[in-house]
Amino acid sequence: MTVIPGSDGRNYIDWIEEMIDSINDGILVIDVEGVVQFVNKEYTNITGVKEADIVGQPLAEVRKGAVLPNALKDGKRREGVYRKEGEVEYIIDTAPVYKGEEIVGAVSVCKSLNEVHYLTRELHRSQERIARLEKAVGTINRAKYTFENIIGREGGLRSTIELAKKAAHSNLNILIQGESGTGKELFAHALHNESDRASLPFIPINCAAIPSSLLESELFGYEEGSFTSSKKGGKVGLFELADHGTLFLDEIGDMPYDLQAKLLRVLQERSVRKVGGLMEKEINIKIIAATNKDLVRLVEKDRFREDLYYRLSGIPISVPPLRDRKEDIPLYIDYVIEKEQAGGSAVRLKEDVMRVLKQYDWPGNARELIHSVQYALSMTETTFIELENLPEVIYHHVSKTSIPQQQTLKEMIRNIEQEIIWETIQIYGDTLKGKKKAADRLGISLATLYNKLEV
Ligand SMILES: Nc1ncnc2c1ncn2[C@@H]1O[C@H](COP(=O)(O)OP(=O)(O)OP(=O)(O)O)[C@@H](O)[C@H]1O
Ligand SMILES: [Mg+2]
Repeated sequence: MTVIPGSDGRNYIDWIEEMIDSINDGILVIDVEGVVQFVNKEYTNITGVKEADIVGQPLAEVRKGAVLPNALKDGKRREGVYRKEGEVEYIIDTAPVYKGEEIVGAVSVCKSLNEVHYLTRELHRSQERIARLEKAVGTINRAKYTFENIIGREGGLRSTIELAKKAAHSNLNILIQGESGTGKELFAHALHNESDRASLPFIPINCAAIPSSLLESELFGYEEGSFTSSKKGGKVGLFELADHGTLFLDEIGDMPYDLQAKLLRVLQERSVRKVGGLMEKEINIKIIAATNKDLVRLVEKDRFREDLYYRLSGIPISVPPLRDRKEDIPLYIDYVIEKEQAGGSAVRLKEDVMRVLKQYDWPGNARELIHSVQYALSMTETTFIELENLPEVIYHHVSKTSIPQQQTLKEMIRNIEQEIIWETIQIYGDTLKGKKKAADRLGISLATLYNKLEV
């Protein structure tokens, strides 16, 4: 080979060889006779062939099935030819080398597919991780319930549900008030899902569950280094996370007084500034707030800001306590029985149980009723819920109110009759056949049996 000295006196050919050796692709050169003239390091790495075993040899002999000699014959370039030897897979580009019009040799460049496979696997792994995270973020920021999940009939909760549906389509802030367990959280979710923000974030925060010292940085976020325990990179606040969506401020009555002023400012200015930050960021959020406290009383006692109260209660929704809408009680009971007994035999309430449930005044509202029915279902060993299956607090309440004395003789007789009939049905089975046998046993017709059970 000709030696061309470099400007620094180095051997030019050595310099070119070093350069080709440092390339990340394998390179193989043959002369016009098909004899290997040169391979770089990466070629030997990829193919596992030693330089001494191939250089100076006819390629077609040392590498069976080699495609490079074809370039000498037809003068064509080839790209992306796949080759596999043992465990090694690679792709090759080949090209003839011309001197003027004449072919003087050919060169092939190969790339190991192992690296491509590795990168593809890594890419898949990353894509899967992103998909999982997106799903997690999606579920975190989604409202779970819709109005379909809120039970209530005419004369009961239905009118509140109808009002809430209208409120959902307005952009005014909504304040939900009601005793504990009346379903305020359920309403907040449903309001968001019914609104045109449904596909956007729903960010709930319980103002009573977070220490007041942390609440501000949760809501507003902070810039890096704004206090000693602050996280690197700072923190995005919930106002920002809820941008274009809904921020649900649960237990708003428990928000510290000084923070109330800051919240009011956000609602008025429609912008937030992180703790320790200088920049104001515009935000577009709808606020749904809920509380079981009497906010008007808190305002009177100077524990809740009056101006904030008016800001929040763009549309006030008051969820009535269960004792004021006893019509809804049978619906909740059916709902729980259906849910808990899915596929099983339908459990029924003894007549006196329903009467007791309607008499009780449900300080824990729907939550207490739902739990009580779930409790009774797990206590009964038959297909009936009886008085003694109810939670103790209700059972005791019943014994204190001594129901039988409030009944007429006719009612008492009807109750006893029903109990006897149900017990007989239990013996023969709660099927049409069983009921016929029970009616026979008691000496009444099937129609009378149904009549007496009022079913
Ligand atoms: N109308 C309803 N229909 C179906 N389930 C209801 C209804 N109201 C309440 N619930 C159920 O009762 C439980 C309590 O409801 P929720 O948490 O919404 O009450 P809350 O008013 O937010 O109470 P708290 O003031 O204690 O936070 C939940 O399990 C909810 O699903
Ligand atoms: Mg709640």
